[in-house]
Parts: sequence; C-alpha cells; structure tokens
Amino acid sequence: MNKVTFREPKIGDIKSALEMMNSLVDEKAYITVQEKQTIKAESNYFKTLFKERKEKQRVDLFLDIDGEVCGGATVSLIDTGARKHIGEAGILLRSEARGKGLGEKLLKKIIEKAVKELKVKIIILYVFTDNKIAINLYKKVGFNKIGTIKNGIGHYGRLMDNNIMIKYI
Ligand SMILES: CC(C)(COP(=O)(O)OP(=O)(O)OC[C@H]1O[C@@H](n2cnc3c(N)ncnc32)[C@H](O)[C@@H]1OP(=O)(O)O)[C@@H](O)C(=O)NCCC(=O)NCCS
Repeated sequence: MNKVTFREPKIGDIKSALEMMNSLVDEKAYITVQEKQTIKAESNYFKTLFKERKEKQRVDLFLDIDGEVCGGATVSLIDTGARKHIGEAGILLRSEARGKGLGEKLLKKIIEKAVKELKVKIIILYVFTDNKIAINLYKKVGFNKIGTIKNGIGHYGRLMDNNIMIKYI
C-alpha cells in the first residue's frame, strides 16, 4: 500500500523534485521546462519558491508517494498590483503517478489553497493544444478556453499552438 500525501515543498525535496523534472524532460512532456536541470538550477528554483511563498505571491503543493516527489502544482500571482486577484496555475505528475485521479486531486487542492491564502478570484493557465489529457482535466475542474495563441509555445524546436484557459472562483 503506497502512502500518498499532498504537502508543501521543503528544502529536502530538491533531489527528488529534480529527478521528477528530468523524467518529464526525458519523455518530452508538454511543459515549459524542456532542458535537463541541474542540482544548482533546482536549488535556485527552490530559493525563489520559498521567497515568493513568504511574500504571499505563490502557493505550491507536492504529491508525495512513499517519500518521493511524484507531482507538483503551483499558483502564482501574475502581479502584485491591479491584477493581484489573478493567479497562474501549473501542474505536472511523474508518468507512474498518472491516470489514478491524483492530478485532479492535486489541482483541486492547489486551487483551494490559492483561494484561501492568495485570495485569487480568477485562475489562468496555458496548455499546449495537443495536450488533450490536461485539457480534459482542466475542463473537468471548471476551466474554460478563452483563446488560442497560434505558434505560442516551443516544443523541442517546433512552434505549437497554446490554449489559454481560465476559471472564475
Ligand atoms: C495532466 C496531468 C496533470 C493529469 O493528471 P492525472 O493524474 O493523469 O489525471 P487524473 O487521473 O486525475 O484524471 C483527471 C481527468 O483528466 C483527464 N484524463 C486523465 N487521463 C486521461 C487520458 N488518458 N485520456 C484522456 N483524458 C484523461 C480526464 O478528464 C480525467 O477525468 P476522468 O477520470 O473522470 O475521465 C498529468 O497527466 C501530467 O502531469 N501530465 C504531464 C505533464 C503535463 O502535461 N502537465 C500539464 C501542463 S499544462
């Protein structure tokens, strides 16, 4: 029986989170990180994460299975001024953890946390138009497509279309 928890990132997660990110690069997942990361880059990412968390500009949750980081979700404020009620979301899971309802649980939990802690009223996200699995998940959780940026995102050297989806809280 696996022990599954949803919790905030901690400093000891750097190595496990790095392995997760690099496994998604290996499979050429539809995410913005498309180059293998190093421990140094991942440590810098964690520094930024902790700083922005302290400043109440973002919330993060990790999916922890038996002590390993197997997924992550984030919502960051898009600015601290006139649009501070809008958060941008992101989510990814290691391939072994997918298709079991955990992505949906993680996404719902990060939205709940963003509403409670960041007081967001709108959540926006970008998704490759080819990423049907993620689009299905987002629709299921109440996101609607508001448009498509043609050639809006690169994928390993090729430009692809990017959907913008939003959810009103
Ligand atoms: C997108 C992602 C987070 C979904 O998480 P998941 O744990 O696999 O999804 P869940 O098992 O919770 O399923 C939730 C919903 O997603 C959709 N979905 C999941 N797997 C699917 C599949 N194989 N085909 C079609 N839709 C699928 C369905 O709508 C599903 O609801 P249902 O079970 O009632 O049909 C995950 O697949 C992932 O991390 N992918 C790689 C990284 C990525 O693409 N991130 C998103 C970047 S925008």
